[in-house]
Amino acid sequence: MSVVVCKELVKRFGATVAVDHVNVEIQDGEFMVFVGPSGCGKTTTLRMIGGLETVTSGDIFIDGVRVNNLAPRHRDIAMVFQNYALYPHYKVFDNIAYPLRLRKRPKAEIEERVNTVARMLGVQHLLDRWPRQLSGGERQRVALGRAIVRNPKLYLMDEPLSNLDAKLRVQMRREIIHLQRNLGTTTIYVTHDQVEAMTMGDRIMVMRAGKVQQIGAPEVLYNHPANLFVAQFIGSPAMNAFKGRLETDDGKIVVATEFGRFPVGDPLVARLKPDRSPTLGAREVICGIRPEDITLDDAPVTPASPQAQVDLVEGLGADAYVSLTIGGTTLIARTPADCPPAENQLVTIHLNPNKLHLFDPITEETLLALP
Ligand SMILES: Nc1ncnc2c1ncn2[C@@H]1O[C@H](COP(=O)(O)OP(=O)(O)OP(=O)(O)O)[C@@H](O)[C@H]1O
Ligand SMILES: [Mg+2]
Repeated sequence: MSVVVCKELVKRFGATVAVDHVNVEIQDGEFMVFVGPSGCGKTTTLRMIGGLETVTSGDIFIDGVRVNNLAPRHRDIAMVFQNYALYPHYKVFDNIAYPLRLRKRPKAEIEERVNTVARMLGVQHLLDRWPRQLSGGERQRVALGRAIVRNPKLYLMDEPLSNLDAKLRVQMRREIIHLQRNLGTTTIYVTHDQVEAMTMGDRIMVMRAGKVQQIGAPEVLYNHPANLFVAQFIGSPAMNAFKGRLETDDGKIVVATEFGRFPVGDPLVARLKPDRSPTLGAREVICGIRPEDITLDDAPVTPASPQAQVDLVEGLGADAYVSLTIGGTTLIARTPADCPPAENQLVTIHLNPNKLHLFDPITEETLLALP
């Protein structure tokens, strides 16, 4: 069942269209991530779901009930925001207990719930401290505790980890995933960090300039991006992109680029959308390839494996990123770190024919149907 449904959701601030006809359904128990660059409308969408922002047009349903005009406190939602303010004049215990006291729960229940949540988050030894006596990570946990101390229908989290250092972020990210799996509470999580989105989300909604670009499981977004924006937003280093033309060599479809002709694998040819068939004549495309789908070797040059110059090798322990120039194009390849090429060396490049991505040069939409 869908817990949250947004239908043609629009938010305007004066002339700014912050959220532009968003349609999304979030399932019961799902961990949904909204991701996209700064200003794309993630927070505004979340705030409308939470009832903190009015809706310009469109509808929001929670558990089948239209909530456009329902006050936040009647939506049975708990929210955690980037600037998680704890009440400075309450001790940790009372901060976590606050939502239960507000609802006039019995004292015994409050004791029990606060202790359970504190154990879950590893802050039971801090219950008697003041917020100012906590580290950033501990404060973050207490804020989470305050959000989960009730059993709401839905959690809304807006960049809750952005104040933490890199290591603590990774740790808290895991804790939130565990917590959500254990509690099974439907969660919408906003971030601009694609790694966070990929590691946390059951599904991800990618937004750009108020519009939904694609909604899907992390592996679907990674392997089958709907457009060039999603292709280059998800994954690091970003997918390489360059101009090409679909042509035919001896009955086989190839992509002709300014630095060589590369075969397009049969599974991809089978997925070319019908109106895009290159048999109607050559067709301009934007070609994409992920860094790990380029291989390099010292073999002699052939038309299908042209040579590139190695500009830079960045070792990362297990892998190395290799920056290459070939003609006027710059590519990044990812290779195992044990035998990277040398800088300034010439290498032959191979593009995995089954891992190419093809996009329309005008609309930037994919030309490949889902398998
Ligand atoms: N109260 C407001 N008044 C006017 N414009 C606003 C208001 N809140 C947001 N906006 C505008 O709406 C757009 C979307 O903002 P929003 O905060 O939803 O972006 P975001 O995706 O959360 O970005 P970030 O990653 O930076 O938090 C932006 O162009 C922003 O400037
Ligand atoms: Mg935001």
